[in-house]
Amino acid sequence: DWDSGNIIEEQVARIREQVGSDKVLCALSGGVDSAVAAALVHEAIGDQLVCVFVDHGLLRQDERRQVEEDYVASTGVRLVTVDARERFMQALKGVTDPEEKRKIIGREFIRVFEQAERDLAAEAAADGEPIRWLVQGTLYPDVVESGGGTGAANIKSHHNVGGLPDDLQFQLIEPLRALFKDEVRAIGRELGLPEAIVGRQPFPGPGLGIRIIGEVTEERLDTLRRADAIARAELSAAGLDGEIWQCPVVLLADVRSVGVQGDGRTYGHPVVLRPVSSEDAMTADWTRLPYDVLARISNRITNEVPEVNRVVLDVTSKPPGTIEWE
Ligand code: XMP
Repeated sequence: DWDSGNIIEEQVARIREQVGSDKVLCALSGGVDSAVAAALVHEAIGDQLVCVFVDHGLLRQDERRQVEEDYVASTGVRLVTVDARERFMQALKGVTDPEEKRKIIGREFIRVFEQAERDLAAEAAADGEPIRWLVQGTLYPDVVESGGGTGAANIKSHHNVGGLPDDLQFQLIEPLRALFKDEVRAIGRELGLPEAIVGRQPFPGPGLGIRIIGEVTEERLDTLRRADAIARAELSAAGLDGEIWQCPVVLLADVRSVGVQGDGRTYGHPVVLRPVSSEDAMTADWTRLPYDVLARISNRITNEVPEVNRVVLDVTSKPPGTIEWE
């Protein structure tokens, strides 16, 4: 029988045995998975754990503050934020292929962590031990979809599994590797994390980088961030957070269409709303959102985000469509 208390006890014992008195580094992404994985490891070894949060510039509006303030307040974990926005933008310059984006983002992530590890080790020069362990919030569906679990075909290289570079110097602690999302949420609640974090929609590690179809630029990120914030606010206001699994907002940056906004003709970009209902992200159905909610989202985005002059709805289930567009 599945029981979140048992899983926590089991994992805590296992993590303690695995790492002894070693220091452990955790990659916080702002999402549920890494937040719960870190809280679980913190439960096991306290301040032997240091969390590193990389601002890769592909985050949604307000996400950095939520991690730096709300998550730290509720867990008491040690947190170091690395501002790597420029580095990621450089690395992604001119890149349009989805798999290439994922690999670059995954690779840069690990490199940034390795640098953070060296900095932290130098700081603790007294014991001078390199940090050998890295916590990752890998879930069972991530393992399966990256072809690591059951020999399934490689559909997408999830950045926390398939996108790792060959010269990885860490050994991984992946306490959620056998679990589905609802189980992870139950564990997070059991550990006392706030509902705002535990109930949060899944957000991919590569962030908004894989929700811009085309090259990732600062301007495009800024446009998508504003549209995404409006969609999320309206879905929450309509009380739909429990009903939808997630609702990616995707910017079709290389597509333009003619519109009429304000005083005249525009030639702007479409955004796609991709609301899905799912149990575990392995399959999904498109959510039949009420028309009035769709209308409000569409009106607000086209009024408040001048770069966007068209809002379209994705009505594809998974399969055949994946949840993310890249
Ligand atoms: P797809 O697009 O494959 O997504 O249907 C399934 C679920 O996984 C999330 N996703 C990711 N999560 N790293 C993550 O941690 C990734 O690289 C990644 N790619 C997709 C996606 O948001 C959905 O919930």
